[in-house]
Amino acid sequence: AGQPAPLRTEVLVVGSGIAGLTAALTAAERSDVLLVTKGELAEGATCRAQGGIAGAVGPGDSPAAHARDTLAAGAGLGDAEAVQVLCAQGPAAIAELLARGVVFDRAEDGSCALGLEGAHDRPRILHAGGDATGRAIEHALIRAARARAAEGARGGLTLLEDTALVDLQVAQGQVVGAELLAADGSRVRVRARSTVLATGGAGQLFAHTTNPAVATGDGLAAAWRAGAALEDLEFFQFHPTALAVKGPHASFLVSEAVRGEGALLRDAQGRRFLPALDPRGELAPRDVVARAIAHVMAAQGGRPVLLDATAIGAERLRRRFPTIDAAVRAAGIDWGREPVPVTPAAHYWMGGIRTDLDGRTTLPGLHAAGECARTGVHGANRLASNSLLEGAVFGARAGAAAATSTPADHGSPAAGPTGAGEELPPRTATGRAWSRTELQELLWSHAGLLRSGTALEEAAAELATWRAPDPAAHITARELEDRNLLDLARLLLAHALARPGSVGAHHRLDEPGTTAAPHPVPSLDLTPEAPA
Ligand code: SIN
Repeated sequence: AGQPAPLRTEVLVVGSGIAGLTAALTAAERSDVLLVTKGELAEGATCRAQGGIAGAVGPGDSPAAHARDTLAAGAGLGDAEAVQVLCAQGPAAIAELLARGVVFDRAEDGSCALGLEGAHDRPRILHAGGDATGRAIEHALIRAARARAAEGARGGLTLLEDTALVDLQVAQGQVVGAELLAADGSRVRVRARSTVLATGGAGQLFAHTTNPAVATGDGLAAAWRAGAALEDLEFFQFHPTALAVKGPHASFLVSEAVRGEGALLRDAQGRRFLPALDPRGELAPRDVVARAIAHVMAAQGGRPVLLDATAIGAERLRRRFPTIDAAVRAAGIDWGREPVPVTPAAHYWMGGIRTDLDGRTTLPGLHAAGECARTGVHGANRLASNSLLEGAVFGARAGAAAATSTPADHGSPAAGPTGAGEELPPRTATGRAWSRTELQELLWSHAGLLRSGTALEEAAAELATWRAPDPAAHITARELEDRNLLDLARLLLAHALARPGSVGAHHRLDEPGTTAAPHPVPSLDLTPEAPA
């Protein structure tokens, strides 16, 4: 029997966070759009974003000042042109979110209230619901997308949940659509003139992550298998302060905005350790703070450090951070009176599918936006609250380009160096069986915040012996995710090995000039403190 005829659309968008929904809404102004997402629309990382969205909208602020901070936090590896686009178009992207119904918190004078986060030279972070910014944005965009889908009109928008990406379809060197796995287990092919990947990151590569369960890098892995260039995969950001508890609130994000309000980090003895390392103290760039915590934790046998927010006061903590307040209290911590145990956790992938300023990848017919894309705006370390902004600005640009361009318009991002990791030995169909937990522990211990050449080599050699699930077999959505995680783990290691020095989030203990620390680094120790 022949295969069922493929579905047809002009633009296929994969993913439903801020980048995917913005791309779909923008493309639907001119084209027929099909948006697919593997879970429910709101299940991705956007909904978990707390601190907010950065934008040069305050008095005295400017896109140039925002760009300066973005490039400095990126340790000099950001792409100045992409950063300029991000920061200059930020205020308009925020205005568009307001027009789509996002209600940002207001100051007493009625202007948008602005929070402070690490490595920003001034308060520049808009927030909603105190610390529920991503949720407010996601739900406003979903409402807009559902309204658009109901409207039909000029280009239509169709939303399809519970539908996972298996692989991109490539013909004569160009992406012509995708193969999907529907909720009932059947495979569906979609033919599209343009495909936009907005599938987010892959925090599930690591044993501890602030990311949701769906963050398995499906689009990134599929783009690589289809032949698109990936770049900067060695730069994985670890958020400094995830809740270090067991149970349902493990690795829950405690926003950097809490430090922006004055919370301090202390070691197990109650001593502050950041001022001695960086004049900005707790508000140094995220890679600096996370690495400092990793060193302190290594020196205290893997025990978490302490986030002391007591000076802010219980009442203000509850009003300004209602989501975090509920989670911290549910974990049994009265943070108005006692410090919160925190640990770094995998948070955001700066690297990804290489794109130009309109989301074009190196493969004709394929665009990417949001965390799965590598636009160059983050360099080696993303500035806090620039990720929602990137999704809004570059999601719209990718959506507009996907709606109007033909594969023949592709070209610019193909130039330049290809990431060294693209060349991997073929995956083996005969290796040993493995579990996702094993993979996550291996990357946490060998390719996390503190790396060495030996540890990276060891992990790469180990992964080379693992069996890759065969996509041609009738495999489940979970097995597809495992296949993606294995491909991406191997790529991350290859990229990390190809960059021997230390810069930004990629830190090698064995390189001259870097601070020595105990190695191997002990794993996170959550055993309860013995009573004094
Ligand atoms: C946070 O609220 O600390 C997260 C912000 C971000 O990841 O940019």
